[in-house]
Amino acid sequence: MELANWDYENELNQFRSELEGLGSHQDWMDLKNKYLSRKSGLIVKMMTELRNAPKELKPKLGKEINLLKKEVDNSLKGSPHRQPGTKKQVKSLDLTLPASFTTTGSFHPLYQVMDDMISFFLHMGYDVADGPEVETSFYNFEALNTPESHPARDDADTFYIDDDRLLRTQTSGVQIRYMEKRQPPFRMIAPGKVFRRDDDVTHSPMFHQLEGLVVDRNITFANLKATLQNFAKHLFGEQTRIRLRPSYFPFTEPSAEVDVTCPFCESGCRVCKQTQWIEVLGCGMVDPNVFKAVGYDSEKWTGFAFGIGIERVAMLKLGIPDIRYFYQNDKRFLDQFRRG
Ligand code: DAH
Repeated sequence: MELANWDYENELNQFRSELEGLGSHQDWMDLKNKYLSRKSGLIVKMMTELRNAPKELKPKLGKEINLLKKEVDNSLKGSPHRQPGTKKQVKSLDLTLPASFTTTGSFHPLYQVMDDMISFFLHMGYDVADGPEVETSFYNFEALNTPESHPARDDADTFYIDDDRLLRTQTSGVQIRYMEKRQPPFRMIAPGKVFRRDDDVTHSPMFHQLEGLVVDRNITFANLKATLQNFAKHLFGEQTRIRLRPSYFPFTEPSAEVDVTCPFCESGCRVCKQTQWIEVLGCGMVDPNVFKAVGYDSEKWTGFAFGIGIERVAMLKLGIPDIRYFYQNDKRFLDQFRRG
């Protein structure tokens, strides 16, 4: 197209006669393309050429091109060969077709159980604390009254990074970090990941714990027991009772392991191995040596602590037989626990 030889009337007539001659929907599409295609349409070409046209011709040419464009636009608005309501369009409005859904994500079952635990303690006025997963042996062991010779320090259980650093084997170290920064009284929980060299149907090298620590004046074992009794009811239902068995943890004295009545039976079943009790957590009164490590006066303050494995509770609550399901991200597994 040469704008120099451009004759508006001529172009217009040319277009009109082409419009007249349209015989099919395809003709209409071709004509539309010829004039209006954004890449190679005549109108676009003319607009581009206009930029280089002699200055004195520009206003006139510009006006004419615009007039032609207007006429082309208006004339080619709808194909005369396809009426609204033809078969294709009616089909796209089929109201009996199922709606298309977009699926959103949902919380992982493990985190649903963890959130449920956290919300219990939040309602009881506990603070939620956090600590590093790569921990020093001081916070993971020493400050928790765990001497070098203790079996829990065995390389066989712990992932060591170097002589001093390791992947924390328990959330109990957060107790120390928390106490270093503040003075009693307080109540806190610390949920998070822990790591141990363990791998079978009920153990995973990475799993989750929720730690609890309460320090105040006159905290007694009765406070610990009442707290855990309420917690067990919250987790497994109103009828749940607990039982405490004497045990040993380096950072508590006395220490206990806590069993809950089996949520699945009254007279023994496969889950409770015919005992009617299921062990769920460890606890005790904070050992004075732990208070010493953070500079608290153990004549003035007493406290209780507990640690619970989240996977174990989630497996019981949700009836999951193998811990590894939690980490495989199989949608068929996860979809069974969609909530909200
Ligand atoms: N840290 C212990 C474990 O991993 C659990 C535990 C026991 C935590 C007694 C406590 C406690 O705070 O008092 O097996």
